[in-house]
Amino acid sequence: MLTFYAIILDMSIIKIENLTKTYHDKTILDNISLEIVPGELVWLKGASGTGKTTLLHIIAGLESPTSGHVIIETKKAANKVGFIYQDFYLQKQLTIRDNISLPGVFAGMPKKSRLARTKELAAALNISDILDYKPAQISGGQAERACIARALFLNPAILIADEPTNNLDEQNSKNVLNIIQEIWRDFDITIIIASHDPLVKDYATKTIELSKGKLHENT
Ligand SMILES: Nc1ncnc2c1ncn2[C@@H]1O[C@H](COP(=O)(O)OP(=O)(O)OP(=O)(O)O)[C@@H](O)[C@H]1O
Ligand SMILES: [Mg+2]
Repeated sequence: MLTFYAIILDMSIIKIENLTKTYHDKTILDNISLEIVPGELVWLKGASGTGKTTLLHIIAGLESPTSGHVIIETKKAANKVGFIYQDFYLQKQLTIRDNISLPGVFAGMPKKSRLARTKELAAALNISDILDYKPAQISGGQAERACIARALFLNPAILIADEPTNNLDEQNSKNVLNIIQEIWRDFDITIIIASHDPLVKDYATKTIELSKGKLHENT
């Protein structure tokens, strides 16, 4: 019986326990708990300002909670989470090639491997022809795909996409969601997409909603 429970407990890749986040005296996340098992494609929905980005940043370790914990259970010690930012954060002065390979620079990857990995991801995401361009010279959909490539660079266990269809028309939104779905099918990866876009529903295996500081599952 104990072994049985151990297997069950080991199953979640993300475990959020009694998480609270307050800014000044405003409570954004109010004692929330959640478990996500590996292989899910989660849609995190919620109105603007409900705390989706805050929650994702805490899961990724980019921000610390006021109290509570996030536990990421994966054998991949070095690179647990790849993050696609809401506002892209592509470095203006760098080419798309150098933007995509930046995580490899920080991880100390040799240049030859970085270039090979960039080439491989660019081909997979259909942006091989814009690698020499600067961010100002590419479209929103291409920027989104460059950000996906950068987030996947170190082959993370979890991919987080914060409003990946923001500012895209319906066709481009579908294109981006199709790409994320392909990544989800082809790689051994758990994905969370934060979005107000109802299109995401068709892609998700699980829906959670943030509202008034609380999480509601499968809404
Ligand atoms: N650094 C900060 N200092 C103070 N308040 C903050 C800070 N970051 C976020 N907030 C507040 O926390 C709340 C949640 O913000 P968050 O960006 O997480 O919302 P969101 O659900 O991602 O919204 P959107 O859908 O517009 O992206 C907002 O009311 C915001 O003003
Ligand atoms: Mg946000």
